[in-house]
Amino acid sequence: MGYKVVVVGATGNVGREMLNILAEREFPVDEIVALASRKSLGTEVSFGDKTLTTKDLDTFDFTGWDMALFAVGSEATKKYAPKAAEAGCVVIDNSSLYRYDPEIPLIVPEVNPDAIEQYSNKNIIANPNCSTAQMVVALKPLHDRAKIKRVVVSTYQSVSGSGKDAIDELWNQTKGMYVPGQEVAPSVYPKQIAFNVIPHIDVFMDSGDTKEEWKMIAETKKIVDPSIKVTATCVRVPVFVGHSESINIEFEDFLDEDEAREILRTAPGILVVDKREDGGYVTPVECVGDFATFISRIRQDVTIENGLNLWCVSDNLRKGAALNAVQIAELLGRRVLKKG
Ligand SMILES: NC(=O)c1ccc[n+]([C@@H]2O[C@H](COP(=O)([O-])OP(=O)(O)OC[C@H]3O[C@@H](n4cnc5c(N)ncnc54)[C@H](OP(=O)(O)O)[C@@H]3O)[C@@H](O)[C@H]2O)c1
Repeated sequence: MGYKVVVVGATGNVGREMLNILAEREFPVDEIVALASRKSLGTEVSFGDKTLTTKDLDTFDFTGWDMALFAVGSEATKKYAPKAAEAGCVVIDNSSLYRYDPEIPLIVPEVNPDAIEQYSNKNIIANPNCSTAQMVVALKPLHDRAKIKRVVVSTYQSVSGSGKDAIDELWNQTKGMYVPGQEVAPSVYPKQIAFNVIPHIDVFMDSGDTKEEWKMIAETKKIVDPSIKVTATCVRVPVFVGHSESINIEFEDFLDEDEAREILRTAPGILVVDKREDGGYVTPVECVGDFATFISRIRQDVTIENGLNLWCVSDNLRKGAALNAVQIAELLGRRVLKKG
């Protein structure tokens, strides 16, 4: 006996990837339905070797369904997730709407799986921001060994993190650079993204941080440890899929780079690729379609007492969104619903 699963936002980047991953990981599914907006009614999406025809979220009745994996924006989530939760269907949500609600667990299964017990507070579980998810997978095992005091992170985030329109904008703008008369003005992004980098993701806050930077700070505290100080600079780069991060960590105790490498090698969800030679590290194009968070360039930061630098790369549509959501579904199944 398996689960009755709803995928909400099934025509989007994350929704399609959730369907792929549910099939790839052979999630025990008895019945599955793909939902999107009315304009996508009848659109076909793949689920393993099957094809699903998309239905309208607005008229869907969640009664009798076990879990709903949501990947629509916050506005649609606000309208429909409570309906699903009230109908007894557990919501696993990719938007930022519920992440900072103290009653709603925010989960990265490799890091804080025990938080799943709080799912019943509202029948909703939140999935973290893509840049946070991959970072905390790397931080947690190091924190357990040497206690992290402070993290300085700079991100290099791909355009797929902004949805399917952003992928089109990078593609069309890049082509347009070479074809006179076909230039494409910025629309999703405030400045040109082709052959450029933009130090601005999400809205600006009074502090001068952007909301994306604030999310990394707040979510790391909620998922790993409220005592960890984080400062972040989030940058959009002209890469289709795969977020990269340069992470500088200051620990309470000394942690040697070789020991850090060994800790990360055995940590769940991580693959270390760290050879000090040409190409001995991972770049975003190599992580696409993979489940792992890749760690490279592990080295001591000798400018502070207990410092370490590392490079962290992962497929943002997978660990940063769809994979993490499916891992939460697996955790919910294993620990709580116990079917399958
Ligand atoms: N991309 C990432 O790396 C990432 C990472 C973490 C979290 N997230 C979050 O995941 C969510 C989805 O992101 P995405 O990148 O997959 O976006 P996307 O590619 O733009 O897809 C959005 C999906 O939501 C559906 N949708 C939007 N408004 C709707 C409405 N009112 N009713 C029904 N369906 C509606 C769309 O359906 P139609 O096709 O019918 O319009 C589409 O299926 C967002 O909240 C985003 O912040 C994304």
